[in-house]
Amino acid sequence: MKNISKPDERIPHPAPYSLAKMKLFSRRAALRMGLLGGVGTTSLAYGNLIERHQVAIEKVNCPLKEEHSDLAGLRIAMVADFHFDELQEDSFVSQCVETINAQQADLIVLCGDYVSHDSKPVEPLAEHLRKLEAPLGVYAVLGNHDHWAGADTVTRLLSDAGIQVLRNETETLSYHHNPFQLAGLGSVWVGEAQYKTALPLSSTSSPPVILAVHEPDFFDRVCNDPRLILQLSGHTHGGQVCAPFFGAMRLPSWGKNYISGLYRRQDSHVYVTRGIGTLFPHVRFCCPPEISLITLTAAG
Ligand SMILES: [Fe+2]
Repeated sequence: MKNISKPDERIPHPAPYSLAKMKLFSRRAALRMGLLGGVGTTSLAYGNLIERHQVAIEKVNCPLKEEHSDLAGLRIAMVADFHFDELQEDSFVSQCVETINAQQADLIVLCGDYVSHDSKPVEPLAEHLRKLEAPLGVYAVLGNHDHWAGADTVTRLLSDAGIQVLRNETETLSYHHNPFQLAGLGSVWVGEAQYKTALPLSSTSSPPVILAVHEPDFFDRVCNDPRLILQLSGHTHGGQVCAPFFGAMRLPSWGKNYISGLYRRQDSHVYVTRGIGTLFPHVRFCCPPEISLITLTAAG
């Protein structure tokens, strides 16, 4: 059963996106409608043409438990939700890939939703993603849209581009000779996430786990697992369109408890990235696209 209790703590990171609260005062309905129309058109144009392309690099420290402090210093670049379609510019994605590589992270994790409705755009997207480089490798999990578009096709095209797709699988990696497990699940929303298949419970004394799964609210199911140090997720787009002082206007299933940024429960954390792309109405407002750079840090 899904546990919907609240996280212990949301750990804020700088988000200078609050704008002054806008109030419309008008004595005449016509003037009010005109004003609203003008503001709406301007906001849509701003959200589509400007903010949708203003990628922020969010640098976040994730504290470790004492027993996992050997992993302190590990740097993970993560991105999600490319939603590559006819609206998404090649030049924009190419710049994103260059920016990710420039972070020189130890590990790159892609957290799903490469396309929106069909799998054809994965082919050109994969040509960009094959340029990603990290010493410990480039790994991916699928999102709900990838499953709906064709999970096997998306998996094959990403694999052909040198990206290892984890579908309820675990890869054991090593950071300065200290082993850890990178587990990747299928989409929770479509019923393809098999945590126990990827991480059998018999291995409770096994190396610590970093879990990649598209939908962030899955964290409620696994945060008590003592092996888990960090879950990486996307899916929410941070809300994509946020109202000043209010936040996300609309959130998807399995993306309502953990929306954007770093959260802690028990001794585990989940980081939710706002992602790169958009779904309809293809605007971002007070919620720019994001490349995340997470550094594991020693306890205390
Ligand atoms: Fe999604």
